Amino acid sequence: DGELCLSRSLVNSSDKIIRKSGSSVFQHSVEGWKINSSLVLEIRKNILRFLDAERDVSVVKSSFKPGDVIHYVLDRRRTLNISQDLHSLLPEVSPMKNRRFKTCAVVGNSGILLDSECGKEIDSHNFVIRCNLAPVVEFAADVGTKSDFITMNPSVVQRAFGGFRNESDREKFVHRLSMLNDSVLWIPAFMVKGGEKHVEWVNALILKNKLKVRTAYPSLRLIHAVRGYWLTNKVPIKRPSTGLLMYTLATRFCDEIHLYGFWPFPKDLNGKAVKYHYYDDLKYRYFSNASPHRMPLEFKTLNVLHNRGALKLTTGKCI
Ligand code: CTP
Repeated sequence: DGELCLSRSLVNSSDKIIRKSGSSVFQHSVEGWKINSSLVLEIRKNILRFLDAERDVSVVKSSFKPGDVIHYVLDRRRTLNISQDLHSLLPEVSPMKNRRFKTCAVVGNSGILLDSECGKEIDSHNFVIRCNLAPVVEFAADVGTKSDFITMNPSVVQRAFGGFRNESDREKFVHRLSMLNDSVLWIPAFMVKGGEKHVEWVNALILKNKLKVRTAYPSLRLIHAVRGYWLTNKVPIKRPSTGLLMYTLATRFCDEIHLYGFWPFPKDLNGKAVKYHYYDDLKYRYFSNASPHRMPLEFKTLNVLHNRGALKLTTGKCI
């Protein structure tokens, strides 16, 4: 029973907890780390019982017609109309169909990346996944620039692009997307009500500027399936973070997954302050129950998987 086997070890792990500066962190070493290919295959097989990332990574054109009304995934009482623009941007087939890679990087947004000098290493992977349209050019030495797949929560429009209130915000956004060329831009548009006008503006800008970026919109079942997988493995996550979603999807396409920028703690191992995001001043209440995410629990889980050779977690300098 591969699944249970994984769950027992996730829960009963004897990973060393070291307490420093008031925060519990989990020790892992990158020296001597080795991929455990049979565990990688076992995890892929188990995740496939819950979701097929090739399919669930995006709905396709034939799933809907313009004017269809759908219920939000995490707010079933509210509905969204599939607009003409949105429909025209749905891919004909999954953007990840038949795509397989030897090594992939999943880049989270923690400030732990600052001064890491991981840029080159990140860019050396065959496929690089990033989150929430995080800026790269100004941070290239630490985070790299290659972006084959990038997520964008609708809230990013407000947070990083001034809600598109003026022309320069819109230009900045169009410029950012044009740098992505034909990479995948993954927009969770069907999760909760609130971001629909942002998604519409984004869609309109992509169409108007004839941007080459390949839009994808996660399936209505993805988040439940991902949560189901982790729950079955005794990792009770209310709402998986974008980073955990990306790792879970990547298990389908990547033989070796390297994670960077995952560090949901206010201090590093030496007690030095770590920014929540490497690129802005957003504050996060790491251990609050009010937050929909349980990133410290996710981190603990990823750390166990690192120690078992299922993935490689880098939180220090890349040398
Ligand atoms: N992350 C982390 N530690 C941090 C910040 C982020 O481990 N200090 C990881 C998380 O897995 C997160 C991912 O990096 O999902 C991307 O960061 P962010 O854009 O903040 O993620 P979201 O999950 O989309 O957060 P939110 O829902 O709050 O927008």
